[in-house]
Amino acid sequence: MVSLTTLSLFITDLDRTLVGNDSSLDRLNQILDLYRQTWGTKIVYATGRSRASYQELATAQSLLAPDALIAAVGTELYVGNSDNPDPEWIERLSTNWHRDKIVEIASRFADLEPQPPAEQRPFKVSYFLSPSVVADVVPQLQQLLVDRNLDVEIIYSGSKDLDILPRNGDKGKAVQFLRDRWQIDPSQTLVCGDSGNDISLFKYGKERGVIVGNAHSELRLWYELHPVDYHYLAAADYAAGILEGLNYFRFVA
Ligand code: GLC
Ligand code: MG
Repeated sequence: MVSLTTLSLFITDLDRTLVGNDSSLDRLNQILDLYRQTWGTKIVYATGRSRASYQELATAQSLLAPDALIAAVGTELYVGNSDNPDPEWIERLSTNWHRDKIVEIASRFADLEPQPPAEQRPFKVSYFLSPSVVADVVPQLQQLLVDRNLDVEIIYSGSKDLDILPRNGDKGKAVQFLRDRWQIDPSQTLVCGDSGNDISLFKYGKERGVIVGNAHSELRLWYELHPVDYHYLAAADYAAGILEGLNYFRFVA
């Protein structure tokens, strides 16, 4: 007999994971809505976007209202309908975070092109960087930051975006924080992603994880180097890949 599992917490990246194909997104939304009604499943979006940029996408794509939004690559957490980032989360990120020093050090690298002002956030400094120079630039940048006692995390995504975040401030850490607060077991949690800034979703706990079929090379490579039976690489792309993962893990209402 096949045993079915209750899905208590559903967490997904947005661009190129949940969003990418409208008809499979519609199907998945119906199923998530059913899960919510049946089990009270909490829905959380974990995105690199700022909250304002998320709101534009949510309107354009008719996304379900989430129970929490993890924005700016994990550095901002909005729980429920709150317009203000969670103060406890901010408090955790503030320790040893010196944004101005980071910006000053990064400005020494001509290859780092600052992203637009709207994507520069209190706990997130973001650049564009060509994949051809990543292997040179990132270790040097890391070293200079370490030399100045700046304990940060550098994340490269989609072969173009480089984010510098507080060490405790990525998407995965925000998920662990929410799971603790809501007292939800990793076995009843599903995380879904497609790119480098989603790696942290998979690497801290034993949440069930789906990597969509269209995933970027940086996440695929990480998956291949860290094989575990609670992660699944879907054949299908975008939301259809998530639907495939829900069946694979037997999260069926
Ligand atoms: C989103 C954000 C951008 C970030 C990227 C990768 O596109 O808008 O600032 O660099 O995600 O995390
Ligand atoms: Mg994405």
